[in-house]
Amino acid sequence: MYAIETIDVVKYYGKAKVLDNVSLKVYEGEIYGLLGPNGAGKSTLIEIILGLRSMDSGEIKIFGESITSRKFNKRIIGYVPQEHLLYDNLTGLDNIKYFAGLYGVKSTEFKKRLNTLKEFLGLDEELLKKDVSKMSGGQKRRIALATSLISNPKLVIMDEPTTGLDPNIRREFWHLITELNDKGITILLTTHYMEEADELCDRVSIINKGKILATGTPQELKKTYGGVESLIIKMRSKFIETAKTILEPYTPVVISEDSIRIQGLTERDIPEVRSKLEGAGIWVDGFEIRRPSLDDVFINLTGRRLESE
Ligand SMILES: Nc1ncnc2c1ncn2[C@@H]1O[C@H](COP(=O)(O)OP(=O)(O)OP(=O)(O)O)[C@@H](O)[C@H]1O
Ligand SMILES: [Mg+2]
Repeated sequence: MYAIETIDVVKYYGKAKVLDNVSLKVYEGEIYGLLGPNGAGKSTLIEIILGLRSMDSGEIKIFGESITSRKFNKRIIGYVPQEHLLYDNLTGLDNIKYFAGLYGVKSTEFKKRLNTLKEFLGLDEELLKKDVSKMSGGQKRRIALATSLISNPKLVIMDEPTTGLDPNIRREFWHLITELNDKGITILLTTHYMEEADELCDRVSIINKGKILATGTPQELKKTYGGVESLIIKMRSKFIETAKTILEPYTPVVISEDSIRIQGLTERDIPEVRSKLEGAGIWVDGFEIRRPSLDDVFINLTGRRLESE
C-alpha cells in the first residue's frame, strides 16, 4: 500500500509552471525525501498533498483514498510546516492544546499522548510553560513536532524540518525522525541538505524546477548518476606542477594548491601512482578516495550545485 501517491500533478502560478507532471509513490513505512534547491516546488507539492493548495491537474491518494473524496480523513496526517505555525505569545503547552483542539483530540487521549510526547521529544515542564517567543530554534521545532504528533498520525509530512538548525541539533532531529519511523509512522520530508537526504531517507526524489529528475535509494542514485570515484593526492605545493606532468596519462586536475584529483582511480591504483611520483622525488602527503555524493548526482542531473550555503 502506498502512503502517498501523486499522479501527474501540475501546478501553475500565473503562467509559471511550478509543478510539471509530478508523480511519486511513497510506500507505507518509509522515510521519503524530496531533495531540491530553493524554488524547486517542494513546499507547493506538500501543500497540495495536504489539501492546502489546489492543483491544476493530476490526482493524489493518501493510503489509497483520493484527497478529494469525502471519505478522506485528514487526521491521519501530521504536518510540520516550513515556517512553523506556532503562536509566539502562547506557551508551548497552549500551542499543543490548540492543535489538539483543531484535530478534535479528546481530553483523556490528549493527556496520554502528551505524556508520550513529553518523553519522546524531551519536553520538560519548564519548556512547556515558556512562551514560544522565548524559545530557541531547536525548542520551537520540538514543540512544532509535538503539535503535529498530538493527533497520533500515521503519516507525518515535514517541510525542511532542520533548516537553520546547527549541526548537532540537526543530528538530534534525524534521530527523532528515525525513532518516529521505527514506531511505524511514514515520513515525507523536504530538504536541500544532501547529507540529510543521504543519511536519513530510505528513498529520495531529486526535484528541480518543478520536475522530478530521479528517484531511488541514496545508494542507487549515487551509483547511477554520481559518476566515478576520484583519487585525491596531497603533496607540498612546490611539487604540484611536476606531479601533474608525470601523471598526465591519468588526466589529473589540480583542485587546490596542494592537491590533485584523478577521476576513476581507486585504492588499487595508489601503489602505482605513489611509485611514479616517488621515482621523480615527489613525496606524497596523503591519498584520499572521494566517493560520489548526492551533490554530484544533482550536478550531473542539472549542471549546477545543490547547496548554496
Ligand atoms: N503563492 C505563490 N504565488 C506565486 N508564486 C509562488 C507562490 N508560492 C511559491 N511560488 C513560486 O513557486 C515556485 C516553487 O516554490 P516553492 O515554495 O514550492 O519552492 P520550494 O522548493 O519549497 O523552495 P524553498 O526550498 O525555498 O522552500 C517558486 O518559483 C516560487 O517563487
Ligand atoms: Mg519550501
